Amino acid sequence: MDKIKIIGGQSLSGKIRISGAKNAALPLMCTSLLTKEPLVLKNLPQLADVFTLGSVLSHLGVKTTYEGQAIGEHQATFHAQGPILPEAPYDLVRKMRASFLVLGPLLARTGYAKVSLPGGCAIGSRPVDIHLKGLEALGAKITLEDGYVIAQTQNGLVGAEFSFPVVTVTGTENILMAAVLAQGTTRLLNCAVEPEITDLAHCLQAMGAKIEGVGTPILTITGVSSLHGTTYSVLPDRIETGTYAMAAGITGGEVELIGTDLALIPTTSQALEAMGMTFKKTAQGFIATGPSHKLKAVEVTTDPYPGFATDLQAQIMALACVAEGTSLITETIWENRFMHVPELARMGADITIKGNTAIIKGVNSLKGAPVMATDLRASVSLVLAALTSSEETIVNRVYHLDRGYEELENKLGACGAIIERVREGSTYDISTTTHPLKAAG
Ligand code: EPZ
Repeated sequence: MDKIKIIGGQSLSGKIRISGAKNAALPLMCTSLLTKEPLVLKNLPQLADVFTLGSVLSHLGVKTTYEGQAIGEHQATFHAQGPILPEAPYDLVRKMRASFLVLGPLLARTGYAKVSLPGGCAIGSRPVDIHLKGLEALGAKITLEDGYVIAQTQNGLVGAEFSFPVVTVTGTENILMAAVLAQGTTRLLNCAVEPEITDLAHCLQAMGAKIEGVGTPILTITGVSSLHGTTYSVLPDRIETGTYAMAAGITGGEVELIGTDLALIPTTSQALEAMGMTFKKTAQGFIATGPSHKLKAVEVTTDPYPGFATDLQAQIMALACVAEGTSLITETIWENRFMHVPELARMGADITIKGNTAIIKGVNSLKGAPVMATDLRASVSLVLAALTSSEETIVNRVYHLDRGYEELENKLGACGAIIERVREGSTYDISTTTHPLKAAG
């Protein structure tokens, strides 16, 4: 398995182009099932999760072609001309649980869908009960057989009113995609309002869907008989944006983030300003500047958008590890999203967990160490921590990183980080070898 080697201590300086949002690209790709015409997605991030979902869609009968090389120029065409095989098998869905997003569109398109239950993941049990309740509200008959969800309708889905008992991002996305082809009007209450959902609604509108209330917790959908294809550009990744802004913060550097918008991370930028960072909007995005002195301690609680994003919780914890004073970070969305804590502790962090709150006492500096990535966002928090330590850190199992961060080592390396990917099978003995990167000076 690939590793990432980092020798930190540099203040980052330069420009980073932000890629298209993983969590927007995935539902957008699934909308291709709702039309027989081609869907072209621009600014598609080249990520393992995107390719995994692409293979699920291909299995269902969607013709998929990728083109474009440079970041920001990637695009793909998804063409579900038919025939559609409305069955998503376990061995594909288990690789990437967001594949469960094919359920609503498949049911809307064919009146039948057999999709493997996605199962949990490292951060929690990840139930999908609300997805199923929403589809039942639209008239679907749902049965569970051998770990599969079987959803079917006799004469197509029928518009209804449904209130989400819990704010759920992919739950909102699944039901929205099902409702756009339902007969009559659907009113969805307590919807998630993440920017990725707004992006999905805008793409569906471009395909001919009739949706009102976009960006609010109440969506009113008037079903149409069919949708046409379109060309749509994926919105910038706000989690990547926040992550690289924090890289500037933890290294006391200054980085311009290009192809993104500070408005995508409202609560995060406020928290980072409270820690001593400053932000300046530019024509192409914004400049994130870390303080010349130590970061200040912070208190954050994760919450659905526009609250503090749970997907940035591990990252801001890395900053808190070297801040002046004691920080409190409370995780309210996932029951097991502190797996980065023991790994940060291996680097000398002083963190105590009480229930769903982490108490972080800032230390003067972190040590380098071999650490283990456990999930997508935990892995990048270890990278941030490594950037502030002048010693060498090896992050293992970086396949987690490859799921959500396009060309991470190139983006950070271009800003002065000493960071290298060690391909599988190459030998490297930390203790005896003069680090090749150190030798480079
Ligand atoms: C999406 O996951 C994101 N994934 C997650 O990002 C993100 O952490 C999460 O939203 C919260 O923002 C994608 O968009 C692909 P939820 P999702 O349904 O939709 C409970 C990353 O790192 N719930 O909004 O699966 C659930 O247990 C990933 O990119 C039910 O109880 O999350 C949780 O407590 C990790 N029943 C809460 O709702 C359901 O049927 C929010 O979950 C659905 C959800």
